[in-house]
Amino acid sequence: MNTCSAFLADTHCHLMLSDFDQDRSQVLARAREAGVNRLLVPGLDLATSRSAVELAEQHPHVFAAVGVHPHYAETWNNVTQTEFRMLARSPKVVAIGEIGLDYYRNLSRPEIQRAAFKAQLDLAAELERPVVIHNRQAIDDIMDHLLTWSMDLPPRLDGKAGVLHANSADLETAKIAIARGFYIGVAGPVTYRNAQALHQITGQLPLERQILETDAPFLAPHPNRGKRNEPAYVRLIAERFAELHSISLTEAATKTSQNAINLFNWNHENENSHIL
Ligand code: NI
Repeated sequence: MNTCSAFLADTHCHLMLSDFDQDRSQVLARAREAGVNRLLVPGLDLATSRSAVELAEQHPHVFAAVGVHPHYAETWNNVTQTEFRMLARSPKVVAIGEIGLDYYRNLSRPEIQRAAFKAQLDLAAELERPVVIHNRQAIDDIMDHLLTWSMDLPPRLDGKAGVLHANSADLETAKIAIARGFYIGVAGPVTYRNAQALHQITGQLPLERQILETDAPFLAPHPNRGKRNEPAYVRLIAERFAELHSISLTEAATKTSQNAINLFNWNHENENSHIL
C-alpha cells in the first residue's frame, strides 16, 4: 500500500451485525491502524439501530444512523418512529438510515417500502438529520421522493441532505442529486476491474461531493472480493478513488474525510481527538 498521512472516514459500515460478534474490537483496532478515524454505523431495523447507537456510545470515533432498511419496511410503524425520535436525542446519531427502496429483492412489498421511506424522510427533516439512501433498481422512484423532499428542508440540511450510499446511479442522476444537496457514496465496486462505467462516473463527479464507505460486511473491495468486508479496507477504495481522480492518496483521504465531516456535522464532536 502507498503511504498516506491523512485520515479516512468509513461512512457506511454495519459493525453492529453478528458477523462482527467474534472480533469487533480487533476490527476497530485494524481500522484505526489503517487511519480510519471516523466510522458511521447505519441501522437496518429498530433492533440493529439500537445496537448501532450503543456501539457509537462506547467508541468516540464511531457514530450511528437509525433507520428501517427497505428489506424490513414491513416493521416500520408508529412505535419505531417514536423509538427513533428517542434514539436521536443522542448526539452520536448523526443521520437517518439506511432507508430507501429495493425493487431487486422486493423483500417488502413496494407500496410498503414507499410508505416507510416517505415517513422516514419526513422524520429526518423533523430531526434535522441527513439521510443515508439505499437504492437497488429503484432510482426513478427514489429520485421522485428525494426531489420533493429536498424542496423544503430545514437550513441545517442545506447542501447536506444526505448520501446516495454505494451509488449505482448514472452520471446525470448523480449530478441532479448533488444539485439538491446530496453526496455520492463510493464503495467497493469501484475497485472491480470490470466496473468501467462506475470508474467513469466516479472520476467525473466533483471531488467535493463524494465520500467513501465499505458497506461492511458486504461489498468487499478487490482483492478481498467475496470475503467479509471491514472498515480498514476503505483504504483500498481510497487508493482506487485517488487513481480515478489523478490525485494522491493523501489528498483523496483528506478531501473525502472533510466531505464526510461536513455532511454528518462531525466538527463539534471529539474536539480533543485529532481531525486531519
Ligand atoms: Ni448498508
